[in-house]
Amino acid sequence: MNLHKRLFIPGPTEVFPDVLLQQAKPLIGHRPQEFTDLFVGIVDKLQKFHGSRQWPAVITASGTLFMDITGRSLVQERALCCVNGAFSQRYAATIQNCGKAVDVLDVPWGQAITPEMILERLSSGDYDTLVVCHNETSTGVRNPIYDIGKAVKKEHPDIIYAIDSVSAMGGDKVEPEKIGSDLIFTSTQKCFALPPGLAIGFVSEHALERAADVPHRGRYTDLKGIYDYYQKKQQTPSTPNVSLLYALDYQLDKMLEETQEGRYQRHLSMAQWTRAWANKHFEMFPEKGYESVTVSTIKNTLGKSIADLNKELATRGFMISNGYGKQLKEKTFRIGHMGDWQLANVQEVCWHIEDIWGL
Ligand SMILES: Cc1ncc(COP(=O)(O)O)c(C=O)c1O
Repeated sequence: MNLHKRLFIPGPTEVFPDVLLQQAKPLIGHRPQEFTDLFVGIVDKLQKFHGSRQWPAVITASGTLFMDITGRSLVQERALCCVNGAFSQRYAATIQNCGKAVDVLDVPWGQAITPEMILERLSSGDYDTLVVCHNETSTGVRNPIYDIGKAVKKEHPDIIYAIDSVSAMGGDKVEPEKIGSDLIFTSTQKCFALPPGLAIGFVSEHALERAADVPHRGRYTDLKGIYDYYQKKQQTPSTPNVSLLYALDYQLDKMLEETQEGRYQRHLSMAQWTRAWANKHFEMFPEKGYESVTVSTIKNTLGKSIADLNKELATRGFMISNGYGKQLKEKTFRIGHMGDWQLANVQEVCWHIEDIWGL
């Protein structure tokens, strides 16, 4: 067997053996009471961890499903999509593919979206939905979703505020009511430190009211249908990944023990340390003040080969990420410090990079 490479990439993240093992439990049906108890328990734990009374939809899919759900169930006619990286670009394209009109607020990669930029665009009164990416995994930029929510909800209370927090939620702070979000979602393979396969999204009452008014919601993307089924039976309308739900239930107990604040502080300390390390040897890619707390994107100012670095790291049992896509490959590299890693683990991988490159 090949040497396992510990994952310091921005997802999927390392899953610890005790969590992985939860999936080996004997399977149960998804209609008996036993499943209902498991599922209701997960919903309750998600609400407790995030300090929220919003309903968390837990769906067997990867996070991208919520982009389709936004397009099918939430956008009535026209959305304003903030784009400052590859994933926000994908969100905008997905909504358009669902047949809804999209205008893009385009900001150069590496820079953040601000409330002022958004308010200026929303003043046209053309939009029923606003879409923002919390943590652009392609650039390592963290958009100020709390400030945006405060500004937007004050001036445009009817707008649905949908947020992709795939690479932040569970590590960075996500308190839906304080943000003012109507949908904020993640995937299990990022900061929750679980295998891929479940999409989790907090949904406001406002979003559910909107969904009721949007036609042609499909089935898997029918947010109201999924909610109504949960209200009636406390189960899922189609067959869920029960094995992964066992692992999620177990992991949520650990997360509740650490608390959201504790988890955020741990991620912040890893990010601050990595940033200082990066600034000592290189430069950070994101605009100052908007750096992610879950992934550090670093400019390759020394012109080293990132591909070769990763090959050498692999022989030592580690993996980091090259820059994202054509635009950023070899020009930047990314160190993911998300999930269950501790500061000492990130320091170890950076020590190996220093050793390999002779820094
Ligand atoms: C910010 C962001 N959005 C969306 C996605 C897509 O998530 P998934 O692969 O779970 O569908 C990713 C995956 O890396 C991401 O980082």
